[in-house]
Amino acid sequence: MKISVSFLKSKFSLTETLKKIDESTADFIHVDLMDGVFVEEKTENSSEILSELKKVTKPLDVHLMMEKDALEKTIKEIYKLNPYRLAIPSELDSTEKYLEDIKAHNILCGIAINPDTNIKDIKKFFDKIDFVLVMSVYPGKGGQTFLENTTTKLQEIIRERDNKKLQFTIAVDGGIKKDTIKQVKPYCDTVISGSFVCMSDDYDKQIALLKEEPNKTL
Ligand code: DX5
Ligand code: ZN
Repeated sequence: MKISVSFLKSKFSLTETLKKIDESTADFIHVDLMDGVFVEEKTENSSEILSELKKVTKPLDVHLMMEKDALEKTIKEIYKLNPYRLAIPSELDSTEKYLEDIKAHNILCGIAINPDTNIKDIKKFFDKIDFVLVMSVYPGKGGQTFLENTTTKLQEIIRERDNKKLQFTIAVDGGIKKDTIKQVKPYCDTVISGSFVCMSDDYDKQIALLKEEPNKTL
């Protein structure tokens, strides 16, 4: 189980938060960028974020919540940071084209699956992706409550993946804390946790709490 830490909601400054995540036992830094169109919220300090991210050493796990116009521009900046992986919305007209483009840059490509997205509408992407990012909250904000029906969705995705003998990995994003992680841990490879880690002083202590839950196998 890998832990990716989102810095969307933190009690420290951006610079300090990124430094604390970078020095922690987290496996990845999760980067949330929003355009105010695909989701209501807009990342106002994206150029500051992009420049601060040049200083970190941990692999970047990027999550773009954007329509085509902002995505087109942002993705070029993201490529310069050479991220480990990049998730885009499954709802774009050109999702498939972007997945190919991300792959061509030697970056793992994935689709973000929103709580209301029907799996049957997106399974056409399943043989084209390296991972799915399953949203366990409605995208836009940190610190929201974990949606209980996420487990059913994860089981559905796994059934489809196994039927087709595919290998993509599964990440779960939103509302992950000590008491909710047990609901997703058996079904995913990575969890993204934001406020549970970044609203505390001791990041490693919080990450250890996430890691200590028993690891059941499917
Ligand atoms: C929500 C973001 C998540 C969020 C996670 O739109 O994609 O990555 O920041 O934060 P918590 O763990 O606080 O829900
Ligand atoms: Zn995210």
